[in-house]
Amino acid sequence: MRKNIVAGNWKMHKTQKETVALLEEIIAQQTNTNAELIVAPTFVNLAKAVEITQGKGITVAAQNMHQAEGGAFTGEIAASMLTDIGVNTVILGHSERRAYFHESDALLASKVDTALKHDMRVIFCFGEELKDRQNDNHFNVVEYQLRDGLFHIDKKDWTNIVLAYEPVWAIGTGETASPDQAQEMHKFIRTLVEKVYGFDIADALTILYGGSVKPENAKEIFSKPDVDGGLIGGAALKAADFIAIAKGF
Ligand code: PGA
Repeated sequence: MRKNIVAGNWKMHKTQKETVALLEEIIAQQTNTNAELIVAPTFVNLAKAVEITQGKGITVAAQNMHQAEGGAFTGEIAASMLTDIGVNTVILGHSERRAYFHESDALLASKVDTALKHDMRVIFCFGEELKDRQNDNHFNVVEYQLRDGLFHIDKKDWTNIVLAYEPVWAIGTGETASPDQAQEMHKFIRTLVEKVYGFDIADALTILYGGSVKPENAKEIFSKPDVDGGLIGGAALKAADFIAIAKGF
């Protein structure tokens, strides 16, 4: 059985005090969710988040990391620094990283390699822009993001990969892909992974949908056979909404 995951990407929100408060609320409300809960606070609050969630069944993830092992890269964070504080999951390739920080598929491929080398789990994000969908080019764009950023990895490493399909036009816009649009793309993605890596890997792969998921639409999106959870931005910043989304399973 593949795993269901509901992950909250907190982006550049929440001070340490606010991080603690939100986590305490999530912990208090998290009963009976049939999905792994992941939270991704900012770098400076990761250690605190790990401390607070210890033994509570909540995973803490980083929102990014650098591809180098270490060195003269002012302002960056290495994989070993994350694993050292108990963070073993990292989000890579978020559309905001791609757009605002110019992260290319080639750069992401090397970040993926570094994360896997450190036995970290990668939540690999990708998705088309509005113009791609309007030009009916969305399947192509997604295929090449996966081929160029991810499909060089070994078969054995897929146990550490979670995919997050996030159409850029649906992120933070209030606009969601319809459950059928999400299912159509997720099915395409799973079939593509199957073609390259075989049925077992594709079948076991968790594919998240991201882009304006909220308590009102989560259940229907998650009911689709190839949607195994969500990567949540705005709605992950309120404990009640985040937990209500997770209860969509
Ligand atoms: P959103 O963000 O839920 O606010 O649309 C999703 C994301 O950026 O992962």
